[in-house]
Amino acid sequence: MVLSLVNEKVGKVFEAFGLDKSLGAVSISNRADLSDLQCNGALQAAKVLKRRPLDIAHEMKGALENTGIFSQVTVDGPGFVNLTLSDEFIIDTFLSGKTEKRENPAPQKIIIDYGGPNVAKPLHVGHLRSAIIGEAIKRIARELGHDVIADIHMGDWGTPMGMLIAKLKDDHPEWPYFNDKFSPSDEIGKPPLSAAELNTLYPQAAAQFKENEAFAEKAREATAQLQGGHPGYRKLWRHFVDLSIESIKIDFSALDVDFDLWLGESDADASSHEVIDGLSKAGISEESQGAIVIDVAREQDKTEMPPLILRKKDGAATYATTDLATIFQRVRDYKPDRILYVVDQRQSLHFTQVFRAAGQAGYIKEDALEHIGFGTMNGKDGKPFKTRAGGVMRLGDLIQSAIDHALHEAGFSAEPADKEIKDMVAKIAVAAIKFGDLSNLRTTDYVFDLNEFIRFDGKTGPYIQYAAVRAGSVLEKAGVDETLSAPVVKSFANKAERALTLSLMGLPAALQRSFDKRMPSDLCEYAYDLANKFSVFYHDCPIATEDNAELRNFRLYLTQKTQETLKKSLECLAISVPKKMLRAPKPQSLAS
Ligand code: ARG
Repeated sequence: MVLSLVNEKVGKVFEAFGLDKSLGAVSISNRADLSDLQCNGALQAAKVLKRRPLDIAHEMKGALENTGIFSQVTVDGPGFVNLTLSDEFIIDTFLSGKTEKRENPAPQKIIIDYGGPNVAKPLHVGHLRSAIIGEAIKRIARELGHDVIADIHMGDWGTPMGMLIAKLKDDHPEWPYFNDKFSPSDEIGKPPLSAAELNTLYPQAAAQFKENEAFAEKAREATAQLQGGHPGYRKLWRHFVDLSIESIKIDFSALDVDFDLWLGESDADASSHEVIDGLSKAGISEESQGAIVIDVAREQDKTEMPPLILRKKDGAATYATTDLATIFQRVRDYKPDRILYVVDQRQSLHFTQVFRAAGQAGYIKEDALEHIGFGTMNGKDGKPFKTRAGGVMRLGDLIQSAIDHALHEAGFSAEPADKEIKDMVAKIAVAAIKFGDLSNLRTTDYVFDLNEFIRFDGKTGPYIQYAAVRAGSVLEKAGVDETLSAPVVKSFANKAERALTLSLMGLPAALQRSFDKRMPSDLCEYAYDLANKFSVFYHDCPIATEDNAELRNFRLYLTQKTQETLKKSLECLAISVPKKMLRAPKPQSLAS
């Protein structure tokens, strides 16, 4: 990391002035045309030393020049110091690999809870965002050396399960599952319904639940019986879960999203009694109007903080109960340092309650639990994204529409039969969707606009893929098929080389920033900057055709590092790079 190397040197200069080295922190200059870096420490130093910042800055100038890493040090304004790195320092740092990945001195064990789809319900855009952002944060954390466990935490245990059972009971009263004495040998097919049937069943059951109180009562009763262990209901429910997992695996693998644990709310059930009893014995929970609750309000709360409901009046557990029991189990089974939840921002009250309760219960420190909320994905009308028909978006349809856009952008009029082209188009489509999402600040709402996301020439996934593919084809044409060793170069021949080299060294810092802020957008920004720097370099500098052999080697080396670094950046965002990015052949002109 160039910045940390520079910080060390500048920090020493500040120490020599009797100041804390942290005052000497440098940052990337916001006037790249004037300098690489800037340091505003003299302004703070002035307060400590009770002297004029301008005088301090001027005195430091000489010491900074003596570090030997700057080609220019200037003092501007009231005492800003602008720093330009010397070419020798940049080249030496880059070629010696000093800025490459380092071992993490303090790796953490992190559980990350994301995706969170619900059994039998179609995935909605909130699950899509959670899956995309969660997968990126997981990969970034792993790249930084943390030990990360990904858990999908399926929604498989609430009233919706009872609705499905009640609906099937109405539709097929003759099925053996509803018999109180059901035994496994009574099974009528494994499973008794198809995934497609399950998918159409849920909206019907949900509609009935809303409109028909008698049905709603039956559904609630079935939920309680399911949770109480009714053998036939349990069997039926198992089929729902298996069918759902099967189709979710297909959907998520199309997005390169994968989990280590495929657990769900139901898995926490085994501990919920222990949790509820334990909390009441410890005096942490209390009875309130027939329910069991935990008071999580604090004096400093600015808004009302309702108590967490552990058990409702009717004996039913809640979403909060399962989340609390899940924390209990995660701590018991994995001893994590942190648990991250990538879930829609609108659930923030729920997580505040659960985290406080977990802290009060002593399961884990409250600040080791983190809700990584995100904004809404909107349609062009500014309202939450829906399909054209106004229904819930199905992931498969969304990907297909991105594929259609990608084909159009590449000039194909229909999906070609060629497997390589099909693979290329699928990768472009997924990159467009994911980068379109990830490049926005996680916490803000954004407009889902495939026309924008798929463009090959903007801040898009396909643009960055294209840069990586182009770097690959330069190397291929030059016959480079193995890792090049660092060439011997002393200076830059062109300023595009210099800018590219600086950018190439930025990945570790970008990963760190991205992880510290839990913002994949920082990594997107980095990848975009690198792709831009490469594109200028490619345009301005002959590479394979350069006559000077030493210079050619250096440029090929830069090209190879670019390909590697872009691929690595995209891999951390769970975006893969196609082998080629072709455009459809131009239609033959109709010459007479
Ligand atoms: N299934 C939930 C939903 O659809 C999301 C689960 C998030 N994770 C959690 N531990 N609560 O809203």
